Amino acid sequence: MNILLLGSGGREHAFAWKIVQSPACSRLFVAPGNAGTAEIAQNVKLAATDFPGIHQFILRESIDLVVVGPEEPLVKGLVDFLQSQPDTVNLPIVGPSKLGATLEGSKDFSKRFMQRNGVPTAAYETFTADQIEAGLAYLEKQSLPIVLKADGLAAGKGVLICENLEEAKSSLKEMLLDAKFGDASSKVVVEEFLSGIELSVFVATDGKSYKILPEAKDYKRIGEGDTGLNTGGMGAVSPVIFADSDFMQKVEDRIVKPTIAGLEKEQIDYKGFVFIGLMNNNGNPFVIEYNVRMGDPETEAVLPRIESDFVGLLTAIATGKLDQYELKISPNYSTTVVMVSGGYPGSYEKGFPISLPEKTEGSVIFHAGTATNPEGHLVNQGGRVLAITGVGSELQEALDHAFSTVNQISWEKAYFRKDIGQDILNLTK
Ligand code: AMP
Ligand code: GLY
Repeated sequence: MNILLLGSGGREHAFAWKIVQSPACSRLFVAPGNAGTAEIAQNVKLAATDFPGIHQFILRESIDLVVVGPEEPLVKGLVDFLQSQPDTVNLPIVGPSKLGATLEGSKDFSKRFMQRNGVPTAAYETFTADQIEAGLAYLEKQSLPIVLKADGLAAGKGVLICENLEEAKSSLKEMLLDAKFGDASSKVVVEEFLSGIELSVFVATDGKSYKILPEAKDYKRIGEGDTGLNTGGMGAVSPVIFADSDFMQKVEDRIVKPTIAGLEKEQIDYKGFVFIGLMNNNGNPFVIEYNVRMGDPETEAVLPRIESDFVGLLTAIATGKLDQYELKISPNYSTTVVMVSGGYPGSYEKGFPISLPEKTEGSVIFHAGTATNPEGHLVNQGGRVLAITGVGSELQEALDHAFSTVNQISWEKAYFRKDIGQDILNLTK
């Protein structure tokens, strides 16, 4: 098969790494890709949102399968666009329709979907600018802290957790009246605060059947001990000890089943991944959000644990034959440590040469924000630069493998969290 993968992050390098291991893959193209995907596949100078460019490329290279990594092209309607072109109308694509992608593109839509389909989630109300007075009055009656969410995509920044009423009121005004997050906050979801431990659950679906992939824990804050600013994700661990079979059964029965049944009942065309961000609140799962793609850096920890043929999984999703696919998961531990540019998630300097080790025992180096400079050196180009995944039969072994590789990698001002996985290790002691 000729496969086109869209995206340029660590998630996409992990997808590419897994796809090229499959005997079903003849040629893999990544648009636009990064310096890591360039080593194992052919990068294509095309943005993931250049719909006509992607369409032409598909025809020119006889692409048999398209795999969409990030949410943006999905929310903008890439799948509907390709299905509206006579020569790609039946092309297998991993990624939901525009309506399906609204589960991530609009928090209000996704909350209403959960409510209609009986999926447990925090209590909420949605407000627009002309409902500001009602919104402020609603805030007065809620307990604290309270969560304000911009309805639309806001690059992971649109969620505010307010500790006091004054802060909540002024934030609601800024979001609705001063467009704090641009168009994304023209509607605001005001939501009950859920306490507990977060878990990332990944579901592959063809819109009718589903397979639950390995779960993962993400480390979102920049600082050790979960302190400081939120980031795209500084590390991941899979499996997660508190996600035992009892808890995962609740997740499947209360969340996964009604979600997939809801997609089918509401005739939402969804062939792709559903990433369920959930809170374990005293042993009960509540959905914080849906994403319509895999997580990053969770993917870099999850995919190494998939033992069955990965292109087979992607094809089964895209062609509606997931019920015939047998998913095999390795019992191994997998841990990912993200190395970032110094200063991230604030401003940072780019272009420092990166030195990578020759040998990486028990670990894999995934590229995220890397590039090759005119002199041919690998350099840092983005905030999150590399994601190093270690695998082992025990969590400690997986961590040792990841960190022994991390410790051999350097560039000026590189930073990473040394405490990835420590909280889970402590739970096992
Ligand atoms: P989201 O963009 O919806 O993933 O929200 C970003 C982060 O805010 C989540 O990963 C949680 O850590 C936190 N968060 C969102 N909603 C809630 C909530 N209702 N209760 C507690 N924390 C939340
Ligand atoms: N790691 C969280 C995300 O991909 O949104």
